[in-house]
Amino acid sequence: MSKIKVLISRDELKAKTEELARRISEDYEGKDLLLVGVLKGGFMFLSDLCRAITIPVSIDFISVSSYGNSTVSSGVVRILKDIDYDITGKHVLIVEDLIDTGLTLTYLKDLFAAKHCASVKVCTILDKPSRRKVQLEVDYQGIIIPDKFVIGYGLDYAEKYRNLPDVCIVEEI
Ligand code: IMP
Ligand code: MG
Repeated sequence: MSKIKVLISRDELKAKTEELARRISEDYEGKDLLLVGVLKGGFMFLSDLCRAITIPVSIDFISVSSYGNSTVSSGVVRILKDIDYDITGKHVLIVEDLIDTGLTLTYLKDLFAAKHCASVKVCTILDKPSRRKVQLEVDYQGIIIPDKFVIGYGLDYAEKYRNLPDVCIVEEI
């Protein structure tokens, strides 16, 4: 039997999302902003974030795999689905569920920067800075969490639990 405990409640997630959306709306006022959600985990945060942003935005998705079905990072980033649009000249904001080692976002930032966009920044709702393997600037940092494996609010364990509305810790699976 699995024992699931709430770590970050839906109310805390909502408050932080609104704070980040306010900053993004101010910072990108008058600019051509493209939000790129990192699938699959980032879909829920992206959908809440974009509805709280008050300036016009475009939305695209990229799908990457860095873990397989393991809970340990392999360090290998594989593009499963690339973005659809030409991002030349656009201000790209990558929207993530969680930054762990930082390997995925370092790879994606370099990939987008090579495509001559106007800027590439990073927004995450959760961050585990104690797990970082590479130095990474996090432009819009959500909630800092301890080094525990979490599920819910888009995050999975073996493709399950993404639909939980709170971020939870699994004590036994
Ligand atoms: P990174 O490349 O190590 O920074 O992590 C990339 C991705 O791995 C995150 O965006 C998550 O989608 C996933 N991930 C990292 N830690 C966890 C976790 O505790 N639970 C579920 N997924 C995780
Ligand atoms: Mg992710």
